[in-house]
Amino acid sequence: MKKINNKTWIMIAASAILVAIAINGCVESKLVAAKSGAQLWAENCQRCHNTPSPNSFSHEQWATIGLHMQTRAQLTDKEREKIVAFLSQ
Ligand code: HEC
Repeated sequence: MKKINNKTWIMIAASAILVAIAINGCVESKLVAAKSGAQLWAENCQRCHNTPSPNSFSHEQWATIGLHMQTRAQLTDKEREKIVAFLSQ
């Protein structure tokens, strides 16, 4: 029988890690999908400053601020949309 060398083991380990990361990634996005705009706002928008109150800006202003803060908070488009929808109520 052919002996499995170290290189092969490293390949197997690396593939297992990649599969684990991929599966985890899907779980993560399901979690994000389950979160409401209010929850995402509370979790992401007070890291750098006080959480802005929903009634401090108009819908148009929130849409612009959302785009600006999306890059700062490193949010996905979906997360930004939910937060802006919550803030524009
Ligand atoms: C990584 C840090 C960071 C995160 C996270 C962050 N902000 Fe900000 N925010 C800033 C900084 C810095 C400023 C002031 C300078 C600027 O406008 O870029 C600011 C300014 C603001 C302002 C003031 C704009 C104005 O014209 O007075 C609002 C409103 C705001 N952020 C909302 C949010 C919302 C909503 C979120 C969540 C989606 C958020 N921020 C997440 C850093 C952050």
